[in-house]
Amino acid sequence: MAESAGTTTTTTTGGAARGGDLAGALRAATARLAAAGVPSPRADAELLAAAVLGASRGELAAASLRGSDLTAEQAGELARLVARREAREPLQHLLGRAPFRGLELAVGPGVFVPRPETETTAGTAVEAALQVAAAGRSPLVVDLCTGSGAIALSVAAEVPGARVVAVELDPAAHAWARRNLDAHPAGERVRLVQGDATAPELLAELDGTVDVVASNPPYVPPGAVPREPEVRDHDPALALWGGGDDGLEVPRGVVARASALLAPGGLLVVEHAEVQGAALRALLAPPQWSGAATADDATGRPRATSARRA
Ligand SMILES: C[S@@+](CC[C@H](N)C(=O)[O-])C[C@H]1O[C@@H](n2cnc3c(N)ncnc32)[C@H](O)[C@@H]1O
Repeated sequence: MAESAGTTTTTTTGGAARGGDLAGALRAATARLAAAGVPSPRADAELLAAAVLGASRGELAAASLRGSDLTAEQAGELARLVARREAREPLQHLLGRAPFRGLELAVGPGVFVPRPETETTAGTAVEAALQVAAAGRSPLVVDLCTGSGAIALSVAAEVPGARVVAVELDPAAHAWARRNLDAHPAGERVRLVQGDATAPELLAELDGTVDVVASNPPYVPPGAVPREPEVRDHDPALALWGGGDDGLEVPRGVVARASALLAPGGLLVVEHAEVQGAALRALLAPPQWSGAATADDATGRPRATSARRA
């Protein structure tokens, strides 16, 4: 696993049992993943092969062009991973990590895989916290429903001096967040709390003092069963279903809790489904809130609503 693609050639020609050529293995894996409906079969095949070889994707491409072979052991490991991906296990579970705003977060069964659209939500929180820091204060930021710790750790890593509190209800997800925070130097500035983000007593000692509240809560309405098997079968139920007729029960609780936590002028940013922007803006109405607006993610879909505590 730890050897580079370059060493692979040497090892194989040096006597290890041969497992076939890398370029052919990549083509075969891509075809199998495409037939299984995996949306990005070539990229997934390359990432799995790179993990098996302990190589970067660039090194993998170079080894493939050079005509490198796999050892039998590497070919077997790759075949096992491809079979699991064919069965639509999330790529990030197989790799054990997910990229997020420059971080590499550890993920696996029991925690929601952080998504690219949440990078936009986290970016809004980072920018708001940087504005507070630029004014000479140490920003206090709360991430409600933190999952792997993605938003909380991004803010801590990108905003020097920020103090962050991250809240997660699910014990399994909380353990993943703990692991991610412990693995990063900025994690020292994140306090992780296990609890219900919608409970009025949660972090009551911080009421009226928080500069930014960010949240990607569960918001899927009942009946809107996710199409992708990776989501439907592998993301935890607690991370998906928002509760109530519209999926907004938890988000409503998050808004209520944020309303108490935020200092006057503090910013709330909440992620939601494309169709929920109007409902969120209605929740974030005057006189309690001002400037409610829904922003698009990188693909142009309206996915995050923010407002300032009046
Ligand atoms: C959609 S996931 C998002 C996780 C993370 N913020 C991210 O963007 O990757 C929602 C998370 O909220 C947690 N959660 C659900 N209900 C909660 C509640 N009432 N209080 C705290 N966390 C909750 C779930 O366990 C899950 O980890």
